[in-house]
Amino acid sequence: MQKGTLKEGNKHCVFIELKSITSNPIATFTQLVKNTQEIHNVEIVIAFSKAAWNTINPDWTPEKLKDFETLTGKKGYSMPSTQADIMLWAHTNSKSDLFDFTESIKSLSEGTMEVLMNQEGFIYKDSRDLTGFVDGTGNPKEEKIIDAACIPQGEKGSGGSYVFTQKWNHNLKKFNQESIHTQEKIIGRTKVDSIELEGDAMPKDSHVSKTDLKISGEAMKIYRRSYPFANQHENGLYFLAFACDPIRIDVQLESMLGNLENETPDRLMEFSTPVSGAYYFAPSFEDLNKLL
Ligand code: HEM
Repeated sequence: MQKGTLKEGNKHCVFIELKSITSNPIATFTQLVKNTQEIHNVEIVIAFSKAAWNTINPDWTPEKLKDFETLTGKKGYSMPSTQADIMLWAHTNSKSDLFDFTESIKSLSEGTMEVLMNQEGFIYKDSRDLTGFVDGTGNPKEEKIIDAACIPQGEKGSGGSYVFTQKWNHNLKKFNQESIHTQEKIIGRTKVDSIELEGDAMPKDSHVSKTDLKISGEAMKIYRRSYPFANQHENGLYFLAFACDPIRIDVQLESMLGNLENETPDRLMEFSTPVSGAYYFAPSFEDLNKLL
């Protein structure tokens, strides 16, 4: 696992997704990796699409690595694919360092990579998303993070992670028109102190019900590191998740769309819309170093 994956609490971040526009991008990929290892004061995680990783290390491509394909669900909902080749997540407490980082990546990739995403994010209050609910409470803790987020020993890519990114735009005006009671039913937790609703109080179509899943007795736990974003034109959540197996993310997405066992969609989808989606592989620190 790369060091920046686990460090929590940095107030500012940027997510950059780059698509290769040359037939032989390997030199740029390697240079990007080198650069990210040399920058101080900024935690950086770098991840590669299947095509990109195949270019630089074809014998060590995780078996389940794939491109994200657009998904459709009930009520006309869809989750579009905007698959790129490289994903960089940089986080820090210094906006100045973040700016320098973004500029260095832009100039390094000029002419060889197209910037499909350049999204800054920030920590809102005590790690809440912009709906006002704490985001991350249900994340696995301590050593359980590794079980949920890392490809197991013995598999190609072991110690690295499957990564899923998805930018969501909120309709906050609509969400805030609902009573706090209804908002809590939509999320599945209380608003002030993030306590999970229990028994009959927990609706089947709440976000927690839709994502807290077990398949054949196995809990589909993932490690989420999403950040909210906001500017004059839009606001929402850039969803970022690390998983030991992409099936865990696939089933959560299908469940949110209402595609599992003829269920209804996640109520969250009435208020938020996904506008991007991509799968990547974040190699372990050791595997990254082997490239240099
Ligand atoms: C607009 C987008 C989203 C928002 C605002 C959002 C917000 C939240 C909130 C407030 C919680 C409850 C607190 C917590 O446990 O973190 C939560 C839980 C969770 N969310 Fe999301 N989420 C979004 C998208 C997604 C997506 C796309 C996935 C899956 C691919 C997902 C997976 C989960 C999981 C696994 C949990 C924990 C469930 C459990 O208790 O085990 N979320 N989310």
